[in-house]
Amino acid sequence: MPELELLVRQIRLEARNVHSYELVHPQGAPLPGFEAGEHIDVQVADGLLRQYSLCNPPGERQRYVIGVLREEQGRGGSRGLHQGWRVGQLVRVSPPRNHFALRPGARHVLLLAGGIGITPLKAMAHQLQAQAVDYELHYCARDAQCAAFADELRSSLDPARLHLHLDGGDPSRGLDIAALLAAERREGTQVYYCGPAGFMKACASAAALWPAGSVHCEHFQAPDRPVCDGAPSAGGFTVQIASSGLRLHVAAQRSIVEVLREAGIEIATSCEAGLCATCKTGYLQGEVEHQDCILGPDEQRTHLTPCVSRARGELLVLDLYIVPSFDPRAAPRLRRAACARPARPAGGAC
Ligand code: FES
Repeated sequence: MPELELLVRQIRLEARNVHSYELVHPQGAPLPGFEAGEHIDVQVADGLLRQYSLCNPPGERQRYVIGVLREEQGRGGSRGLHQGWRVGQLVRVSPPRNHFALRPGARHVLLLAGGIGITPLKAMAHQLQAQAVDYELHYCARDAQCAAFADELRSSLDPARLHLHLDGGDPSRGLDIAALLAAERREGTQVYYCGPAGFMKACASAAALWPAGSVHCEHFQAPDRPVCDGAPSAGGFTVQIASSGLRLHVAAQRSIVEVLREAGIEIATSCEAGLCATCKTGYLQGEVEHQDCILGPDEQRTHLTPCVSRARGELLVLDLYIVPSFDPRAAPRLRRAACARPARPAGGAC
C-alpha cells in the first residue's frame, strides 16, 4: 500500500498520449533508492491502485519518474492520472519494489521494448550504461510521435547501443525479433523484454529455445491465453485459512480473492490479473494452477496470486493469519482481518 507522500513536480508530454510524471519529496529529502526494473504502486484515487515502472536513472535519489500511456479502453488508472494529476499536487505511492531485476554477471544484455514497455527497459539501459555492461536496447514504436523518451535516450545513451525501430503500424516493416534473437543466442547473454501483447508474444516465441534463466519479461496486460501448464480446473474447490481452519468454497467462476473478500478477509490487490504480485500469498497444502505472469518457478512452489490462480485439487490451505477476534458474521465491517506472511522477493522470469 502507498506509504510515501510525494509532490508532482513536473508533468511532460513525452509522446502521443504518454505523460511522464516527476515525483519528489515535498521537503526535498532523498527518496528510497531503487534498481532498474523497480516499480511503485500509485494511488490514483481512493481504492484505485496501479503499478508504474520507474524510468529515470536508478542512481537518482531526488526524484522518481514514471511514464503513463493513456489507455481509453483500460480500467481507468491511466485516465485517472492523465485527467486528475496536476503539478504541485501531493500523491501517495509505495516505496519501489522489483519483480523485473537485472541479473548480475551477464556478458551481454539485450533489451527489447515495445511502445510504453520502454519504461522499465529505459531504467535498465541507464543502469547498464553506468555500470559499463555490454548491452543493446532495441526500441520498437509505430512512429516518432509514439516513441516516448526517444530524445532523452538519444542524448544519454551510447548511440551505438540504441536501435530505434519505427514500423509505421506494419510489424513486417519493424524489428525482426526472431532473427535478432537467433543471431544473439550465445552463452552469457541475458534478454529482457516488455511491451504490448503482440510484441510479448513475438518475443516469447523467438526466445523459446533460449536456455532457462536467460530470458526475462514483464507484462503490463494479461496474455490472451492461460499461462499455466496442464489443464485448467473445471470446477470449484475449497480454501482453508491455516491459522483458523476456516473453510470457504470457491466456485468455478469466482476468484479466491473475491471469496475471501466476501468473508471479510481483505488481501491487497491491484491489477487483479496476475501481473503485479500485490496479492501474493503463501500456501501450505494443495496443488496450485498458477495463472500469473509474475512469480518465478521457485516462488510458485510456496506462493500464489489468489486474484487469478486456483487449486487443481479439492483443497488449498492458505498461509493466512486471522486476528483472534475474527467473526465471519461481522465480515462486512472487517477490513484487513488477515494478512499474508512477509513475501520473499519475487522472480519475473518468463
Ligand atoms: S493483484 Fe496483481 S497479481 Fe494479484
